Amino acid sequence: MGFSNKLVNWYQANKRNLPWRHTVNAYHIWLAEIILQQTRVLQGMPYYLAFIKEFPNIEELANASEDKVLKMWQGLGYYSRARNLHFTAKDIAKNYGGKFPNDYQKILKFKGVGTYTAAAISSFAFNMPYAVVDGNVIRVLSRVFGIDTPFDTTIGKKKFHSLAQQLLIKENPAIYNQAIMEFGALQCVSKSPDCSICLMQDFCEAYNVNMINMLPVRSKRIKVKNRFLHFLMIKYNGNIFLRKRKKGIWTGLYEFPFLEFKHRKSEKEVLNSEDWLNFFKANKLDVCLVSNEFVHVLSHQKIYAQFWQLKAKEISLKEYELVPEKDLLNYPVSRLTEKYFESIKLI
Ligand code: ADE
Repeated sequence: MGFSNKLVNWYQANKRNLPWRHTVNAYHIWLAEIILQQTRVLQGMPYYLAFIKEFPNIEELANASEDKVLKMWQGLGYYSRARNLHFTAKDIAKNYGGKFPNDYQKILKFKGVGTYTAAAISSFAFNMPYAVVDGNVIRVLSRVFGIDTPFDTTIGKKKFHSLAQQLLIKENPAIYNQAIMEFGALQCVSKSPDCSICLMQDFCEAYNVNMINMLPVRSKRIKVKNRFLHFLMIKYNGNIFLRKRKKGIWTGLYEFPFLEFKHRKSEKEVLNSEDWLNFFKANKLDVCLVSNEFVHVLSHQKIYAQFWQLKAKEISLKEYELVPEKDLLNYPVSRLTEKYFESIKLI
């Protein structure tokens, strides 16, 4: 039996029972795929269920406020996914009468949808013959077929896409795609896979030449930027200063004023820094509490953050809203800020 049929047989016997596998509703499948882009299945599942309960169809999602969508996304991180989801729901409501189009090229044009997600929706919802290529698929193919071309190069991308497309079972793309992803997620895992029980053992190139741990190959190291942020939770007459962010990874979320430095600074250095003095030129403040450092790792940046609780006697901060302290938790905030709230038992 060939690779693809073996894979599907394995899938039928080993698949997890996941709610988005029992539907061909393109809206539900799209939602699941966006959530699962950067989130593990177990963590994403309650969000998937909550979203389809709160927004049973695309129009309801389109009509929700952005704050509501972001608030429901809270805890998942990578909020551009939620903003794009909302944007695309409005796009579909307006331009497609609320009905998800069954056309790969149209799906691919949606904000937040790349080739992987377009292939996943096209195959799972419409059984169209588009092979998915994600991290799991790349790992399985590179090992079983012994491909050491770096997957993050133009040539590598082409190679993996074309092989995946060749292996796709054209009569049943949905099952085949689910099967190869599940195989990567459960059996051909990145660290220490248990090859002794693997059904591909006989013809897995990497296993047979002892190269499992060397594949797949990435060409570039991801550059990670270190950022040192000091968030200022300034209380003033029972209110807190917040503003809605307009750019970057936290667009649309509410944030405290913050100071950013290129290097780690002690509390004293922060208090004596030019930025601090500029920021608080005309204001009278007491420092009440400074948190420990929180380390927040994102795909392209590592954030070292401290949260300062301050009391203001006199203050004027343009661009910030004064929010009653008791309402603080109603505002969507970054996963990092949420971790801080958890640490001080606000959540
Ligand atoms: N990860 C991304 N898409 C998935 C899916 N449909 N099932 C399980 N895990 C996934």
